Amino acid sequence: MPATTAHNLLTDNPELYEARFPDPDRLAGRWTEDRLRRHGAGPRVLDMGCGTGRDAAHLHRAGRTVTGADLSEAMLAHARTHHPGPRYVRADLHRFDLGPERFDAVVCLDSALLYCHTNDQLDGFLASCRRALAPGGLLVAEMRNGAYFLGRTDLLDTPAVHAFTWQGTAYRSTTTLTVDRTAQLLRRTRVWTSDDEAEPVVQRSAWRLLFPQELRHLLTAHGFDVLELHDGPGPRTEPPWQEGLSPGTAADADRLHVVARLAAPR
Ligand SMILES: C[S@@+](CC[C@H](N)C(=O)[O-])C[C@H]1O[C@@H](n2cnc3c(N)ncnc32)[C@H](O)[C@@H]1O
Repeated sequence: MPATTAHNLLTDNPELYEARFPDPDRLAGRWTEDRLRRHGAGPRVLDMGCGTGRDAAHLHRAGRTVTGADLSEAMLAHARTHHPGPRYVRADLHRFDLGPERFDAVVCLDSALLYCHTNDQLDGFLASCRRALAPGGLLVAEMRNGAYFLGRTDLLDTPAVHAFTWQGTAYRSTTTLTVDRTAQLLRRTRVWTSDDEAEPVVQRSAWRLLFPQELRHLLTAHGFDVLELHDGPGPRTEPPWQEGLSPGTAADADRLHVVARLAAPR
């Protein structure tokens, strides 16, 4: 019987996370920096759900003053050691207050925003961003697109199997996605096996299924003007974003990208 863990195997093993989701060309960091430049953001950036810190460190190298925040102590410890430069702090994206410091941008990459499962958590996140941002500050986020699942079952029909080797051990993950329509969540069950005789580990997590117009409404209600809302190109689209490519206008494919500016108080 496989062990079931309430912990997130990947976020508890940041090196495994980077091995499973490699980004050697720092595409996510470069895309984010391009968004920040295109919309004229100032230098102070908060990366919420910063994970291993690789994007925060890229933005630091681009000349920004970066704070990376995550709930996982393991991720923060890894980030401090392997991706130095930014300041790393523990914070919950459901509701956070980093004190009187103000940021010119909050970034939230690779579906970290979708760990806000409930409407209260989404409201808490956006209210916290609003408090943390200087007037005219930006929110830049990149995530799964809930609308992709309307009428499409390709990601639900067959478990996705990935095999890779990390530190001499061959790992295999089998991921099954199901839609919980009542909670509006995409639930994920991932079973990990390895060739080192360890017991299989079952890991369960979920993302909010957030729809483009729902996100636009939430942002507007929290005082943001939406500058970009589209399905790509972005760092996790196929084909991926490259320097010089302009944002699209559709929001149909499986990734959603948003840039919003905190409107000046009226
Ligand atoms: C899919 S990873 C993305 C990490 C990073 N942004 C990237 O693009 O590589 C999601 C991250 O969100 C963090 N996370 C999950 N729930 C959170 C919460 N409530 N508050 C802060 N961070 C959270 C996890 O620890 C994990 O590092």
